[in-house]
Amino acid sequence: MSPAEKTTDFIVRRPDDWHLHLRDGEMLKAVLPHSSAHFGRAIIMPNLVPPVVTVANAKAYRARILAAMPAGHSFEPLMTLYLTESTDPADVKAGVKSGLIKALKLYPAGATTNSDSGVRNIEAIYPVLEKMAEVDVPLLVHGEVTDADIDIFDREAVFIERVLSPIRERFADLRIVMEHVTTEDGVDFVKGAGARTAATITTHHLIINRNAILVGGIKPHYYCLPVAKREKHRLALRAAATSGHARFFLGTDSAPHAKSAKECACGCAGVFNAANTVNCLAHVFEQEGALDKLEAFMSLNGPAFYGLPANEERIRLFKGDAPLVLDDKITAGGDDVVIFDPGFPLFWRYETANA
Ligand code: DOR
Ligand code: ZN
Repeated sequence: MSPAEKTTDFIVRRPDDWHLHLRDGEMLKAVLPHSSAHFGRAIIMPNLVPPVVTVANAKAYRARILAAMPAGHSFEPLMTLYLTESTDPADVKAGVKSGLIKALKLYPAGATTNSDSGVRNIEAIYPVLEKMAEVDVPLLVHGEVTDADIDIFDREAVFIERVLSPIRERFADLRIVMEHVTTEDGVDFVKGAGARTAATITTHHLIINRNAILVGGIKPHYYCLPVAKREKHRLALRAAATSGHARFFLGTDSAPHAKSAKECACGCAGVFNAANTVNCLAHVFEQEGALDKLEAFMSLNGPAFYGLPANEERIRLFKGDAPLVLDDKITAGGDDVVIFDPGFPLFWRYETANA
């Protein structure tokens, strides 16, 4: 029976996370097990303080991640570099050729957490983009403009028009991933942009719209960037994710912050969802009658776009009779980090299903 039919039990390849914030130090130790337990690989975001800007930085960060890995877990961190206006094309080429660097991340300066060293003048990085196209390494974009006169809910759409479209046209061979797409405009852009353009979609953007943040009191744990948009955009994201379209895949954007840094007068952007993402996604795909597309979204489309093999390991997803009782937070370095609350009970669980 295909999982699209009514079923409570099916097997898929182990998923990967194509957009993840693991941080460093105590936070890294606390959050890493929540990704390495569920995912085979993850694209590791480079927005540390200071950011991961050179191949040497990425090599050292990878070693710290591996040192923090719980015994018995198998998980491969796929390293990225943080693009700046002084990124050296020769360093990029060497990092890609060595196999260490799997992508480079473009943060417009000031767009989000730890993006101060990001790019102000996009044309300043054109020589690096040219080199990236030549060595065929993907460009990952945080797709928001930062101009003060652009409404925060319009920043993605304006970015597409002013920044992404020109890059797409100029560098035809460059693989581009529009990270954490949040709008119908973004979905349409990716669909129409051809085989070398893809998008990641987060778990939370499939589940919440902007009302979740603002109605009935301000809910800082639903605040992230790009901020969740109105309902029609959430529905467009759901349609894209559950369609099986090869150029949409999971990037959780799991982004932990201490509870005290979220619940305050100027709270940080970021949702920590690594711990319950697979359970949430099975729920969403079942709601959409698309359980047969879940494997494409979380386990197949990402590796295909990155030119990597899918994971060999399998997991068996099954639906329990009673809701899962999960923790609502973890502890990191003496502070709590709140786990994403999808707002509905979770019945789906999974176990390893290797032959
Ligand atoms: O909500 C977000 N949190 N969006 C980002 O782009 C960065 C991330 C973080 O690093 O906390
Ligand atoms: Zn992110």
